[in-house]
Amino acid sequence: KTAAIVGCPFSGGQPKAGVDRGPIHLVEAGLVQQLEELGWKVKFDGHHQFEEINTTDDPPIGILKNPRLVSRVTESVAKVVGDHVKKGELPVTLGGDHSLAMGTISGTLNSHPDACVVWVDAHADINTIETTESGNIHGMPVSFLLGIGSKVSEYSWVKPLLKPERLVYIGLRDVDAGEKRILRENGIKAFSMHEVDRYGIGKVVEMALDHVNPDRNRPIHLSFDVDALDPTVAPSTGTPVRGGLTFREGHYICEAVYETGLLVALDLMEVNPSLADAAAVEQTVAVGCSLVRSALGETLL
Ligand code: ARG
Ligand code: MN
Ligand code: MN
Ligand code: MN
Repeated sequence: KTAAIVGCPFSGGQPKAGVDRGPIHLVEAGLVQQLEELGWKVKFDGHHQFEEINTTDDPPIGILKNPRLVSRVTESVAKVVGDHVKKGELPVTLGGDHSLAMGTISGTLNSHPDACVVWVDAHADINTIETTESGNIHGMPVSFLLGIGSKVSEYSWVKPLLKPERLVYIGLRDVDAGEKRILRENGIKAFSMHEVDRYGIGKVVEMALDHVNPDRNRPIHLSFDVDALDPTVAPSTGTPVRGGLTFREGHYICEAVYETGLLVALDLMEVNPSLADAAAVEQTVAVGCSLVRSALGETLL
């Protein structure tokens, strides 16, 4: 079993500086060795380089910010992740902002068109060019993957490979009005914090997997935005929302996905080490590493 760390020091999908330093901190905290200790062969030959991607002229398209840069970066991530998946390696993509998932999930679905996506987040990240109020593309990757909303020619490389019934959310609590309508109209299954409170995380994960993966035979792409966790657990992130998952609830999701034996790709996104004080940064980075370890088989006993 081989894991490939795809460090993506990228922040162009949102306006706050520092999220591009997330992957550097996660690797410096010892993630590679930690995964080796779990018995993985770990490939990591430096963070993904975006310097060669030049967008000297990148004015907004509509209100989309940095549209060409985000498109080119995520397209290059799709290739890197897709190559690992094709080789049977498990790509662990470290963000960086969540626009990167446009790339990672495209990479997974290119090789595994039958894969399902478990999206763990405070946010649905499903705004279209019509509904986004911020113009920040990290709030939009899911709509591009589904092929909903008006097409932006710059993003014609993103194939609508994700089917609404192969997507499930856990942890939502800050969903824009337009996003709620999109979820409803497309029949997309979402377990908000309300359902986590009502049923408990064990039942929620079971119901989530029953929905996207009823026979437990489809490959799973787990896209984990660290802001799904409560800000008391993961403070260093750009769009914290109170009332989130506990430390254990977040880890339980990762453990349960690992136990399926179906995980083919993992994203850990939105760690921003320049937000919050040093202790809070250390805490957030540590919890990020620990979520990845749980998804790659670390057990409590
Ligand atoms: N819904 C808001 C937006 O569209 C917030 C998105 C936050 N996304 C994230 N990946 N943290 O801008
Ligand atoms: Mn989020
Ligand atoms: Mn909001
Ligand atoms: Mn997100």
